[in-house]
Amino acid sequence: MEIWFDPAEELDAALRRAAGTLPGFSEHFSPEMRPADPRFGDYQANGVLAEAKRAKANPRALAGALVEALKNSGALDASLVEISVAGPGFINFRLAPAFLGSWLARFRGAEDFRRSAHSACSGKKIVIDYPSPNTAKQMHVGHLRIMDIGEAVARLLEFCGANLIRDNHIGDWGTNFGVLLFEIKRSGFAFPEDDEAALEQLEELYKSGTAFTKENPEALDAARAELVRLQQGDPENTALWKRIVRVSDAACEKLYRVFGVKPDVTLGESFYRDKVGRVYDELLACGIAEEDDGALVVWNDEDPRFARGSENAAPFIVRKKDGGSNYASTDLATLLYRVEHFHADEIVYVTDDRQCDHFRMLFHTAARWFKCKGYPLPALRHVYFGKILGGNGKPLKTKEGGTVRLKALVAEAVERAFAIVSEKNPDLPEAERRKIAETVGVAAIRYVDLMSNRTGDYMFSWDRLLAFEGNTAPYLLYAVARIRSVFRKAGTTLEDAGAGDEVLVPATDAEIALSKKLLGFSAAVRTACEELRPHHICSYLFELAGAFSAFYNADKVMTDDPAARALRLRLCSRTCVVLETGLRLLGIEPLERM
Ligand code: ARG
Repeated sequence: MEIWFDPAEELDAALRRAAGTLPGFSEHFSPEMRPADPRFGDYQANGVLAEAKRAKANPRALAGALVEALKNSGALDASLVEISVAGPGFINFRLAPAFLGSWLARFRGAEDFRRSAHSACSGKKIVIDYPSPNTAKQMHVGHLRIMDIGEAVARLLEFCGANLIRDNHIGDWGTNFGVLLFEIKRSGFAFPEDDEAALEQLEELYKSGTAFTKENPEALDAARAELVRLQQGDPENTALWKRIVRVSDAACEKLYRVFGVKPDVTLGESFYRDKVGRVYDELLACGIAEEDDGALVVWNDEDPRFARGSENAAPFIVRKKDGGSNYASTDLATLLYRVEHFHADEIVYVTDDRQCDHFRMLFHTAARWFKCKGYPLPALRHVYFGKILGGNGKPLKTKEGGTVRLKALVAEAVERAFAIVSEKNPDLPEAERRKIAETVGVAAIRYVDLMSNRTGDYMFSWDRLLAFEGNTAPYLLYAVARIRSVFRKAGTTLEDAGAGDEVLVPATDAEIALSKKLLGFSAAVRTACEELRPHHICSYLFELAGAFSAFYNADKVMTDDPAARALRLRLCSRTCVVLETGLRLLGIEPLERM
C-alpha cells in the first residue's frame, strides 16, 4: 500500500470508490470524513448514516458492507490502517504506528510537502488581485490585512500547485485626480525629494483641495476641467499624474518589501481606460445593461438582495451619468482582460468586507455577460475580511482619532519587539537584537491578523500579539528556535537529524501523538487552500508546537538508546520543517535563534 501524504483525503477517496461498487449506495454518497474521537481512531466517516436514510436501509449493515468492500478492494493494508464500524454506523480508521513511521521516512523536507500538497486549485491558472491600494494615499492599517491575507492566500495557492499571477490593481484613475491636480496648481506645490514625504503632502493637498472645492463652485468646475484635461491626454496633467503615481508606487513599494509582497504585474485602473467602451457595447448588445437617466445600469434581479422591488433594490452602475467610467466598468474590463490575456481559470479578489456588494454585483453581471458572449467564465472568489478594532471595540484609530498609518504601526511593532528581545537576551549584540526585533515585530502583527477567521473583526492588543505564550508569532518563532538549539546541542543539524530513509516507528504516546500531528499538516493546508482561510494554518501550527512541547517534556531526545534517539531527532527535524514551512506560508520568515 502506498504511504499517502494526506490520509484523510485518500481514505475519503477509497470509501467513495468502494461505495461505487455497491448497489446500496447512490451517487450522492459522501463519506463526510472528520477527525475522530481519539479513543476510537484518527478519522471517522459519518456519511453512511445519511445514505442509509436515503435508501431506508439499516446503517450498521450498510457500513459493514462498505467496510467489507473496502477491505476486499485491496486499497488498504490492514497492518497500516485499522478499520472498524462503531455506533449506529460510523466507520473509524486508525493509522498504525508502522504507517506513521513510513510517513515520517517518506516526507522529509519542504519540497516533499510542496510536491505532495494539493487542493482543488492545483494546476489552475489563478489571478489574485492584491494589494491594489489607491494612488496618492498612504497605506493604512486596512492594508495590513490586504497584504497579510493576500500574501498568505497566494502562498497557499502556489504551494498547492496553482499557477499564480499576482496582479496589483492600483486605483490610479479616479475623479480624485481632478481635485488633486487643481490643488497642486493652486498651491504651487513642488515635489520633495523623498517619496514618502511627497505622498504625505499629496494626501494633505487632496484634503485641502476637497475642502476648497466644496466651498467654491468655480473651483469645483476648475477641478472637473483638470480631470477632463487629464482624460484627454493634456501633456502637463499627464506628466503630473505620472509623477503622482510614481511617488505613490515608490512609497508603497517600501511597505510591500516589509511584508514580502511582490506583484507579478501592476495593471492599475488607468490601464483599462480605453477598454471600457467594449464593456458598454457588449452589455447593451446583450440586453444586460440599460440606460437610466444618462447612466448605464445593470439590474441583477436574480439576486434577491438587489432585485427590483426588494428592500435593498440597487442596480450595478457601470457608467456614470456624465459618461465617465467608474469602479464597476473598470472591474468588468479588468475581468475580461484577465480571461483573454492571462487565461485565468479563477480570479481571487482580496479586499475588506465593505466591498462585498460590489463584488457580488460584479460576479452576477460578468456571469450574464460571458454567457451571452460565449466567453469562458472563470471561478470568481471574493476573499473579504473584517475590521481591526481598538480596545473600545470601534475600528482602530490613532490617539488623536486619525487613521493608523501602516508605516507607523510597523515601526511601533519593531520598537516594542526590540524592548522585549533586549529584556530576554541582554547579552546579544544590539545589531542582532535589532534584526531579531524586525522579524518578530512584523511577524507578530502579521500573525495576529491571520490567526482568526478573516471574515470576522478582531481586537488589536499589543500585549497579546507580542506575548511569548499562547497562539502568537513569538511563541511559534521561539518553538522553531528552540528546536534549532536542540540540534546545536546535539552536535547535528536539521538536515542530518532528519536524514536516512529507514523506517523508524514511533512507540511512546508522545511520539505517536506528535507523529499524528505532523500528518495533519496536509489536511490543514488543503482546508486553508480550499476555503482561502489562512487561520487554519495558524491553528494547526499552534497545535503542532503544543504536541512538540509535550513530546519534548515526556521523551528525552538525547537518550542512550540509539534507535530511540534517531527517531526522536527525526521527529525534531520534521517538526521544525513543518513549523518553518507553515510560517513561510503565512509570510513569516523563521529565525535560527531568538
Ligand atoms: N483600489 C481599491 C481600493 O483601495 C481596491 C481594488 C480591489 N480590486 C479590484 N479589482 N476591485 O478600495
